Amino acid sequence: HHAHTIRQILKKPPSDTILQVNGWVKSLRLQKRVGFAMISDGTCAQSLQVVFPDPKLPQRLTNGASVCISGKLVSSPGASQDTELVATDLNVLGRCDPETYPIQKQALTVEYLREHAHLRARTESPGAVLRFRSNVMRTLQSFFESHDFCYTHTPIVTSNDAEGAGETFRLAPVADSDGSASQEFFSEPAFLTVSSQLHLEAVANAVARVWTLSPCFRAERSQTSRHLAEFWMLEAEWAFVQSVYQVCDATEALLKNVLRASLLSLDAAVLWRAGDEEKRARVEVAASDVPWARMTYGEAIEVLRAHLAVHPGAFKFAPEWGKGLQSEHERWLAEQYARGPVFVTDYPTTLKPFYMRANDDGRTVACFDLLVPQIGELIGGSLREERESRLLEALHAHGLDAEAYRWYLELRKYGGAPHGGFGLGFERLISWISGIDNVRECIAFPRWAGRMLL
Ligand code: 4AD
Ligand code: MG
Repeated sequence: HHAHTIRQILKKPPSDTILQVNGWVKSLRLQKRVGFAMISDGTCAQSLQVVFPDPKLPQRLTNGASVCISGKLVSSPGASQDTELVATDLNVLGRCDPETYPIQKQALTVEYLREHAHLRARTESPGAVLRFRSNVMRTLQSFFESHDFCYTHTPIVTSNDAEGAGETFRLAPVADSDGSASQEFFSEPAFLTVSSQLHLEAVANAVARVWTLSPCFRAERSQTSRHLAEFWMLEAEWAFVQSVYQVCDATEALLKNVLRASLLSLDAAVLWRAGDEEKRARVEVAASDVPWARMTYGEAIEVLRAHLAVHPGAFKFAPEWGKGLQSEHERWLAEQYARGPVFVTDYPTTLKPFYMRANDDGRTVACFDLLVPQIGELIGGSLREERESRLLEALHAHGLDAEAYRWYLELRKYGGAPHGGFGLGFERLISWISGIDNVRECIAFPRWAGRMLL
């Protein structure tokens, strides 16, 4: 007979008289006349209870072993499950030494599990995160598809620093067969991408609506709960956008769609459980029809300063026009002021990368950051500068070599359409929705400054 996944079995018990289940032993209880085992195959958060009428069968079984069990599905007399499998046959596929198995029963710390990243998905919450992540990806994909966005794969190895922020990893030179040192990429210098945006802009000026979910690399030294050196960024870019508020609207619709789908996710429910309904409530509020708050950077500085005037010592850094918002400011705006996600638009030109479209006031750009509670910045987006001469000025003002951006300038020269887009940190999104407070727990194999175990 063919094996069923535990998710299938628990969702809709198959009618087969004898069925086969594969999985790993989560726990065991051996009594004189009967044995019980909880079996999990990772397809859902739940385990399947297996009853051994012959307790000799599982006698040498241990936690963590992989097994194939045949048996009959019956309705369970126990209170904690509807169905259970009465085992007729047990095949141990992979033994597991209970003395040295790193995943022991007692509570394991987050840091301990990071050090055992190759095994951590065997435990409840890390397993649920991986399934939840996959689920969110599916929801995003279908949303984009229903709005005629084309999924585009963009290069990982690039010739430029798209953000101009100097956080690029550079590849190491390789030796040629004759022993002479060559450049990193044949005869060219090469970097790991920090963002797919510039390539997406090229495609958006041809197939109009594009998106990608792609690895990005940043030589970030900051060790915070929101930064990784390798993370995944969801980026969308589309043509014929005239206002940054249209980009905000699309972003809000996309995220509300994901939030609503999360409210139906059993894995999200597992992750929220630790927060006693409070985490779920937060997602419910953000998912509602009430539009998210919007304010300009100038207004944000004013309300931050007003708050500081009444509560001296509320912030470590004094907010001031022209200075970047600190993470403490971002979180206060989302958590205390807006009590939910808030779009902050029109930052000073000097704080943002060269590609953002200049506003008519001559000192701000048509951009936004989406700030959310617990995280701070989740998304950055903008209109892109589509006027060739303005773009050249911006490149110069940022001290960048226009020659290196020739193809990017050509996009403007040859029928470039007004366009805009955004980039969202995928691990930050997972962290925000799941309520898991560190992005290191939101990706299977996290990389950050000083940590690359496997
Ligand atoms: O704000 P950033 O740097 O914007 C860009 O790279 C644009 N080119 C995106 C675009 O418009 N297409 O990065 C976008 C988002 C941030 O808001 C943050 O959520 C996430 O990417 N991010 C990181 N996430 C984890 N670790 C890091 N080191 C991150 N750096 C940025
Ligand atoms: Mg940003």
